[in-house]
Amino acid sequence: MSLPASFRAFYLDRPESEGGKPVGRLGEVPAGVLPAGDVTIRVAHTTVNYKDAMMVKGIGYRLKDFPFVPGIDLAGMVEDSANPDFRPGDAVVLNGYGAGEHFAGGFAQFARARGDRLIPIPAGWDSADCMAVGTAGMSAMIGALELEKNGVAPGRGPVLVTGASGGVGSMSVAILRAMGHHVIASTGRMAEEAYLRGLGAAEVVPRAEFENGPARPMLPKRFAGCIDAVGGKTLATIISSLDERGVIACCGLAGGNSFTASLIPFFLRGVRLIGIEGGHGPIAERREAWARLPKLLDRGTLRAMTSRHGLADIPLLAEDILAGRLRGRAVVDVHD
Ligand SMILES: NC(=O)c1ccc[n+]([C@@H]2O[C@H](COP(=O)([O-])OP(=O)(O)OC[C@H]3O[C@@H](n4cnc5c(N)ncnc54)[C@H](OP(=O)(O)O)[C@@H]3O)[C@@H](O)[C@H]2O)c1
Repeated sequence: MSLPASFRAFYLDRPESEGGKPVGRLGEVPAGVLPAGDVTIRVAHTTVNYKDAMMVKGIGYRLKDFPFVPGIDLAGMVEDSANPDFRPGDAVVLNGYGAGEHFAGGFAQFARARGDRLIPIPAGWDSADCMAVGTAGMSAMIGALELEKNGVAPGRGPVLVTGASGGVGSMSVAILRAMGHHVIASTGRMAEEAYLRGLGAAEVVPRAEFENGPARPMLPKRFAGCIDAVGGKTLATIISSLDERGVIACCGLAGGNSFTASLIPFFLRGVRLIGIEGGHGPIAERREAWARLPKLLDRGTLRAMTSRHGLADIPLLAEDILAGRLRGRAVVDVHD
């Protein structure tokens, strides 16, 4: 095995001069930062998710050990394995399960993980494709599968995607369109209408239609289903706007982490609200999502929603995500 004594990373440090506040740095971290695990991975690409942006900006996390390597997603090649399912050279992807939150993650040239948490990179795809998907896209796929399993078949009615220009949203638009749905994309950036239509949206509507909450418990029936990346009052409006037996895959909180809603649509329309646990959900659910993704998305579609970066771009990407400015997904080459 050729794990070096130290390797390049974007990491968080806590210098005395900053009064104990974590700051991001680009440099070498010792191999000792790697967690326990039976598979060591030579990372090729990572990505910046919403959670990563929060971590990099010191929002919602209290770290104890420094240097800390963020990055909830990574993809690369197995360097060394004590797990019978993986051999050196195998191409693998890791999403979450504490990587980049509780132990060192993907913003580095090496990572370590439990083999039973790794997914083989789908045939015909590479590590950059998998990071174009990332936790955001995998969660979008899990959300789309929940709609499917709960009876939201193509042709039953339009499906809504909120936060459509963002990572979860862009992936959801493309996935739902490929499944055959009439997709309505809601966005605060109407300037991105052409981009969203290019991904497969049949209609693009302003987010202002949803963000103030419902005027009445029951609004006209507009949607058979929804993948919601926004939450807050937007989610309450959608609950009131679903058709009978309509389903919401509740994915994100970009617009608020709590909401007040009427229960009437649950009882009179049988609507369903399903939480999507992309960070720590069962591996079987992830395998199903990763198996379905290449059947629905070609690499051209992935590229259309992806920007490419190096490790040094991470702080700016984090700012853009938290400000709702990033379009689609950001792939980071850890050797750049
Ligand atoms: N459930 C899971 O496992 C899971 C997995 C991944 C992500 N998430 C969550 O999903 C959410 C979105 O993640 P992401 O990666 O898609 O982030 P993102 O790329 O930043 O996209 C979020 C989008 O939401 C919209 N938005 C931002 N601020 C808003 C506001 N104040 N009100 C209404 N809309 C707003 C924007 O889209 P427009 O400009 O198009 O309106 C923005 O692009 C985050 O809360 C993230 O933590 C959850």
